[in-house]
Amino acid sequence: MGFFTTAAGNYDRHIGRYGPRLAPELIAAAKVQPGDRVLDVGCGPGALTAALIAHGARVTAVDPSEPFAAACAERNPGADVQVAKAESLPFPDATFDAALAQLVVNFMTDAEAGVREMARVTRPGGTVAAAVWDYADGMTILRRFWDAAKTIDPDAADESQMRYCTPDSLAGLWSNLEDVDVRETIVRASYDGFEDLWAPLESGVAPSGAFTAGLDPGPRAELKRELRARLDVGDEPFELTARAWLVTGRT
Ligand SMILES: C[S@@+](CC[C@H](N)C(=O)[O-])C[C@H]1O[C@@H](n2cnc3c(N)ncnc32)[C@H](O)[C@@H]1O
Repeated sequence: MGFFTTAAGNYDRHIGRYGPRLAPELIAAAKVQPGDRVLDVGCGPGALTAALIAHGARVTAVDPSEPFAAACAERNPGADVQVAKAESLPFPDATFDAALAQLVVNFMTDAEAGVREMARVTRPGGTVAAAVWDYADGMTILRRFWDAAKTIDPDAADESQMRYCTPDSLAGLWSNLEDVDVRETIVRASYDGFEDLWAPLESGVAPSGAFTAGLDPGPRAELKRELRARLDVGDEPFELTARAWLVTGRT
């Protein structure tokens, strides 16, 4: 939670670059229809909310981070945005046709309770769905980042160690739902050059940014060199791919 109390612009320039590409994939996997009432859980600055509105859904969004919820509300005047956590959603049972969480379940304090709440507020036969990065392998920037970080600090808290980042563990988390499906999707993001990728890390946003911002200048410069070498990119524009797991189930 503390990783995401920064200004939304820092998140936009870091992992937020991938959100607008990922959101339509999650919406398609969840089979959201125009006119559906949809809850965006852990909305952040609002990439999924914006895509849901563009898709014709009626959107309610929640996030425990006040700056992120405020940014989501400002960017999406058509959405009802509230400050709340997945584990205690402030809605009656069966309020929504679908509840979606993009890049959130692995950050929840109690993901079992969060998914249970998402199912409770979804109508019978509705959809509960989430997207989570493949931190262990296919999410290029974060995989290279943590590999580089471990050369600075072998005990660096690699995000692939978080719970609910693998297809099997996501299927297990969804096991109280019907017709559970887990599939992969690969999205891309563009960078002007390595400095464009590096700058938001120094702001402290997300676990990778928090690790970077916590380093003294010497090790931080070393991390920067190591990451650049591992990504094998320079000052020219480039794109990176990112694999996510999409999990869906029906109530
Ligand atoms: C990586 S960001 C994803 C934001 C947005 N969904 C997107 O795709 O860009 C993770 C978000 O989860 C939120 N979050 C953390 N713990 C949460 C919880 N227990 N319930 C709901 N959201 C939570 C954070 O505040 C943050 O906005």
